[in-house]
Amino acid sequence: MVKGFAEKIRKMKGKEKIVMLTAYDAIFSSYLNEAGTDIILVGDSLGNVWLGFKNTKPVTMEHMLHHTRAVARTNPEALVVGDMPFKSYEGPQQAVKNARAFIEAGANAVKIEGPKIEIVEELKKNGIDVMGHVGLTPQTSDWKVQGRKDEEAKRILDDAIALDRAGCFSIVVESVPAVLGKKITNAVKAPTIGIGAGADCDGQVLVSNDLIGLNAADFKPKFVKQYLNLRPEIIAAFKRFKEEVKAGKFPTKEFSYE
Ligand code: KIV
Repeated sequence: MVKGFAEKIRKMKGKEKIVMLTAYDAIFSSYLNEAGTDIILVGDSLGNVWLGFKNTKPVTMEHMLHHTRAVARTNPEALVVGDMPFKSYEGPQQAVKNARAFIEAGANAVKIEGPKIEIVEELKKNGIDVMGHVGLTPQTSDWKVQGRKDEEAKRILDDAIALDRAGCFSIVVESVPAVLGKKITNAVKAPTIGIGAGADCDGQVLVSNDLIGLNAADFKPKFVKQYLNLRPEIIAAFKRFKEEVKAGKFPTKEFSYE
C-alpha cells in the first residue's frame, strides 16, 4: 500500500469493517497479504508469542526493527504498522527518532499505547501516521478486562477522544466491555479496531498465532476465536519424523538421490 493508506483506512469507518492481524516475519506477512488483510501489525506481542518472554516489556527497538524488515520484505499490499516497544516513546524526540527507524525498516505507520497526546502530535508534525491503543495496554496494564467501573470507563473513553483529536488514524481498543467498545466507536472519528471490545468496533484484530492455535493449550483468552488448532498437528508431524528416523524408515529411496 502506498502513501495515503492511513486516509484510506480512515474512510472505511462506517462503510466496511477493517481487518488487522499480526505478523512478525516474511512467511506470515505473505499469508496475510494473500488473505487480503487490510492492516498487518508487527505487534510487540512478538515478545510473548515468538521470543519466549512472559510479556511485551523486554521487547526492544532492535527486535522490532528486525521483524518489521522481514514483514516489509514481501512488499505487502496491506498497510504495515510497527508497534513501538516499551520505553521507546518516552519523550517527543525519542519517539520521532524511533518512529522514523520503523518507517525506514518498511512500516507505513506506528502504533503507541496509552494517551500519549504530545507524542502523537509530534509524530504527526513529522509526517508519521499513528495508531492509538486504549483499554488494556499490555506495556503498562494488568491482564484483566478494563473499564468495568464507571470512572475507569470514562477515563478510557476520554483517552480515545483525546487520541482522536490529536490525529490518530485509527485506535485499537483492547479488552473492554462491548458496551464501552460501542461508546468509544460512536464518539471518535477515527476507526476503532477491537480486540475483546465487542462487535461494534469498526474493525477487529487478533494475534495470528492465537487464531491458528500455535500456542500452548492453556492460553486462550475469551476473545480469541481459534479458526485452526495447529499446535497438536505440528507436534504430531515432528513426532512421526522422529519415529521414522529412529526406526530407519526415513529416508526411503523416494527421498534419496540416485
Ligand atoms: O502487540 C500486539 O499484538 C497488539 C495487538 C494485540 C493489538 O498490540
